[in-house]
Amino acid sequence: MSRISYVNGRYVPHHEAMVHIEDRGYQFSDGIYEYIAFYNGFLLDGELHMDRLERSLFELQMDMPMSRNAMGIVVEELLERNCKDDGGLYIQITRGVARRDHAFPKHVRPALVMTVCAPKLPKAHDVKNGVKVITHTDIRWGRRDVKSVSLLANILAKQEAAVDGAREAWLLEGKVITEGSASNAYIINKKGEVLTHPATEKILGGITRDVLLGLAVEAGIGVVEAPFTMAQVHGAAEAFLTSTSANVLPVTKVDDTLVGNGKPGAVTQQLQALYAEHIMFQTGKQF
Ligand code: PDD
Repeated sequence: MSRISYVNGRYVPHHEAMVHIEDRGYQFSDGIYEYIAFYNGFLLDGELHMDRLERSLFELQMDMPMSRNAMGIVVEELLERNCKDDGGLYIQITRGVARRDHAFPKHVRPALVMTVCAPKLPKAHDVKNGVKVITHTDIRWGRRDVKSVSLLANILAKQEAAVDGAREAWLLEGKVITEGSASNAYIINKKGEVLTHPATEKILGGITRDVLLGLAVEAGIGVVEAPFTMAQVHGAAEAFLTSTSANVLPVTKVDDTLVGNGKPGAVTQQLQALYAEHIMFQTGKQF
């Protein structure tokens, strides 16, 4: 079965899926995106992702290219045409195609592209034993809460992690770890509380983050939404990261320092189990 993508009203074979060179996403990274996981054909937290997509558009003063209901119909059709049970869905919206000029063009239609890919889940070994992250200076812009397609600073950090054999780069602004290059960052202190950066303009408020923090509170686990520093990482019992593609992934080493005893801890494992239950409940997928 060949891969099918959706481009501005048409379902096309993926290798023929193209946008114009004057698309403002290409010229100026003037656009936003969402990445949503699906299992057994059901989007995981689809409505929360669509809420964030609408918020990102609003912040860039862009209109929805079609109603939310219509977008849902396109998503359903695309998943069906790709014949996939489990995978990931990218929705990307740019301001559209216009003659190159920085200011917003008048009367331009937003461009909508959707693609489906295979699941991007971490290896079972990493889910069980944890991963290494490196630290990297956070050189991004000031509105990281917008899920913008402008990811240059993120990819430079991620590349450094890849060269280092690490899973992720945790971004440092002064002494504070804001988040990962494509995930949110957490530590668990010696009291067993989860610490993570508050969902301000300094980070992308992850959907996995929001859902997991809710599950943690329900389970009676303490949650502190406050910035944390490398000194706190060195004194932490456990650490982990979350994202749509990684779910809840233990972090056992930051740069050259082991976190706690260097093994995934009990609180992280409890959070992994709670999140697996959440996926199971929504989609029937068992991890
Ligand atoms: N990345 N922070 C950043 C900078 C991200 O890019 C992501 C997601 C997250 C986690 O958000 P969520 O839990 O909603 O996936 C945090 C996705 C996976 C991506 O770039 O494809």
